[in-house]
Amino acid sequence: MEIISKRHQELATSLQQQLQALAETEFGGFDIVRETAWAIPDWCFLGMLDGELACCYSLVLRQARFDGQPVLIAGLNNLITVPAFRGRGLASQLLVKTEQDWFGRLAGQCALLLCADGLLSYYSSLGWQQVESELWFDQPDGKRLWQANCMLLTADRTVLTPAKIDLCGFPW
Ligand SMILES: CC(C)(COP(=O)(O)OP(=O)(O)OC[C@H]1O[C@@H](n2cnc3c(N)ncnc32)[C@H](O)[C@@H]1OP(=O)(O)O)[C@@H](O)C(=O)NCCC(=O)NCCS
Repeated sequence: MEIISKRHQELATSLQQQLQALAETEFGGFDIVRETAWAIPDWCFLGMLDGELACCYSLVLRQARFDGQPVLIAGLNNLITVPAFRGRGLASQLLVKTEQDWFGRLAGQCALLLCADGLLSYYSSLGWQQVESELWFDQPDGKRLWQANCMLLTADRTVLTPAKIDLCGFPW
């Protein structure tokens, strides 16, 4: 699989539309998705097979706060494998092979994702840790408390257990 990383704003319009359509199909049916203001990603990571998009995810780089201390977060969202390519290990490969970017050239201190119950074991199998932190994020009308799951990953697999996380902006 060829892996491409691109700044979100530099994606060709057709690709941006393809990613948007995939996300709409997978997540557009959830109330929380429709009713929340989301961050615009900084980066997109694409897994290509024979020139065709097979899987992708977006990444937000954000100075967040763990118990009041600034932490540069690599925030992952919208991990999607195009249905025809599912179950072949492509999403896992994309995550594992691009992890070095989050903690290397992008200088993230910690990766963070918000996910549904069903995906906890998938991400756990890739080393992510579920945390019980109180997680706050911004919305146009003020701060809100996240009610679902949050998972963290560090480069050296140190387990972080902040009591309070503030995303300091819209969630992803
Ligand atoms: C989750 C997803 C990205 C996995 O892509 P993939 O390329 O098939 O992933 P892999 O082949 O690397 O791993 C497959 C594993 O995904 C997990 N998985 C996929 N969908 C799942 C779901 N709805 N619930 C629980 N686990 C799921 C399973 O553990 C599966 O393992 P198995 O093959 O042993 O059953 C893909 O199913 C998808 O696009 N789903 C819809 C969007 C989504 O829910 N994204 C996650 C956002 S947090």
